[in-house]
Amino acid sequence: MPTFMFSSLFLLLFLCCATNSAIVISSEQSNDYLISSHIVSHAAVEKQSHFRFYWHDMITGPNRTAYRVAQAPNTDNSSTFFGAVLVMDDPLTTGPDENSKLVGKAQGIYVSAGLNKTEYLMVMDFVFTDGEYNGSTIAVSGHNEVFTEVREMPIVGGSGLFRFARGYVQLRTYLYDQKIGYAVVEYNVFVNHY
Ligand SMILES: *[C@@H]1O[C@H](CO)[C@@H](O)[C@H](O)[C@H]1NC(C)=O
Ligand SMILES: *[C@@H]1O[C@H](CO)[C@@H](O)[C@H](O)[C@H]1NC(C)=O
Ligand SMILES: *[C@@H]1O[C@H](CO)[C@@H](O)[C@H](O)[C@H]1NC(C)=O
Ligand SMILES: *[C@@H]1O[C@H](CO)[C@@H](O)[C@H](O)[C@H]1NC(C)=O
Repeated sequence: MPTFMFSSLFLLLFLCCATNSAIVISSEQSNDYLISSHIVSHAAVEKQSHFRFYWHDMITGPNRTAYRVAQAPNTDNSSTFFGAVLVMDDPLTTGPDENSKLVGKAQGIYVSAGLNKTEYLMVMDFVFTDGEYNGSTIAVSGHNEVFTEVREMPIVGGSGLFRFARGYVQLRTYLYDQKIGYAVVEYNVFVNHY
């Protein structure tokens, strides 16, 4: 190996190690669809952020935010509406009042999945529209037994500032008005991200 190559390789390695940055391995010779492959630094700091906001779900009236899109043949005769599938675009606000500041939307589905208990499977994205998190998302998928005081669901991923997100959400019903089909739920979100 010519000396100049050796010394520049040495310099490259030295710089990479000194700054904890990634080493990019050229893909030209190995295959033509691998774009790059990095050593991910173990020094990258993962932080945990705690957010609190309120989820508003309304299934009747002119301001409804969720619609039933599918059901089983006997869903309406079931005490738990087993089989109902709803699609939501629910506002997320800083306070329990629906007119408090909007920070994003919860978009996704919830499915009544308990034959004898009111249990939902929820699959949704928190789509932030406010401040530095505008455009970033957190994906949640989990089991929600809605008449239990505190429920927990996993965070399964994220985008933007929440890339590689993991963590959990805890939720508590703040208000439930069965007559008009309106629920306000407090979400505490504990998300690890970079
Ligand atoms: C629907 O939303 C509008 C605008 O926020 C509000 O003025 C109206 O009172 C709401 N209607 C109901 C039935 O909640
Ligand atoms: C639901 O209940 C109603 C009234 O009890 C009955 O007439 C109907 O046949 C039931 N439907 C199904 C699908 O079980
Ligand atoms: C659910 O309820 C039905 C009808 O009430 C009953 O036949 C069934 O055994 C119950 N299942 C469970 C798992 O409790
Ligand atoms: C969020 O981002 C969108 C698209 O970039 C932009 O149109 C909008 O004004 C932003 N909202 C806020 C509150 O910054």
